[in-house]
Amino acid sequence: MKKKIYFGTNLKMYKGNNEVIHYLSELGKLYKQHIQNNNIELFVIPSYTALSDATRLANDELDNLVIGAQNMCHADSGQFTGEISPVMLKELNVKLVMIGHSERRHIFKETDLEENKKVLAALKHQFITLLCIGETLEQKEYSISDEILRMQLKIGLHNVTKEQIPLIRVAYEPVWAIGEAGIPASAEYAENKHAVIKQCLSEMFGEVGLDIPVLYGGSVNPTNANELINKQHIDGLFIGRSAWNAANFIQLMKNALEALSQNNQYQNNEFATTASKLIEYLGGKQNIVALTHCATRIRVVLHNPENIDKNKIEKLPLVKGLFSISNQYQIILGKDIVSMVHSQMQIQMP
Ligand code: PGA
Repeated sequence: MKKKIYFGTNLKMYKGNNEVIHYLSELGKLYKQHIQNNNIELFVIPSYTALSDATRLANDELDNLVIGAQNMCHADSGQFTGEISPVMLKELNVKLVMIGHSERRHIFKETDLEENKKVLAALKHQFITLLCIGETLEQKEYSISDEILRMQLKIGLHNVTKEQIPLIRVAYEPVWAIGEAGIPASAEYAENKHAVIKQCLSEMFGEVGLDIPVLYGGSVNPTNANELINKQHIDGLFIGRSAWNAANFIQLMKNALEALSQNNQYQNNEFATTASKLIEYLGGKQNIVALTHCATRIRVVLHNPENIDKNKIEKLPLVKGLFSISNQYQIILGKDIVSMVHSQMQIQMP
């Protein structure tokens, strides 16, 4: 199954109601013309004052366009002058709430404990809940980025239940990469931090924690988007400036999706080649009695173990090792590729 891809934009305090209406109409029209992939979640997060019209328009324009709010009060109602409650957002048909954007944390001094209260309130009201996390430049220079990310996740998502996981999204946005003065993180750096985030989520929630989509944000632009989206642990892109013009946003998505599909094709070819070589070096189809796999290995039972060419199997680029127990052979492959190579072998030996 193809993995779902997430694209989102936070409009910050830039577009008023009229501009948002114009932007969304344009986005809806261009999306239908240019984006064929239907396994996408697309969200737009305007200012509060545009939410009412935005949700109505999203409903009419595109059924997979999710409208989100930039912040929310943790309480349903009360003496919180100037705040907006989850109940009020529900009334407007808002589907997503963003919590803990870097500008909320650093300009408005929101803490992880506050973000956690908001996350729990958003989930209680069944909002898709986008928790933003990211280290500052200073924290990066002290080499405590991983600790900061783990802390923001562990506090921010404290007391979230496994049942609520399908509603959670995480945006990793290094503070030093955001906005006009931001320096985009390299794809390698982002991928490394996404792996840390996924690891932490799996420690917190077990294997289902890995289902939480993690988006990269911070100076995503047309030159780095394709490389970022092709990284294994990056499930989507969260974009500011480069998405505020609808045509540019659509072009960026279109290019990123094309780059992704080219890469998938390339990988499929690589898996298919490895599979056919494996069949050949195992002594051909007729020598394979049984073929199964577990998380990291392909297991084969051979008619005649003498027909196997161990040397050649061990030299295949994707193969990490080979060992045998009587006539059963186990071929060790990377965790994420074993099922791909296995299914290619099945296709090639009906
Ligand atoms: P940027 O903003 O893409 O303009 O850096 C990202 C964000 O603040 O979410």
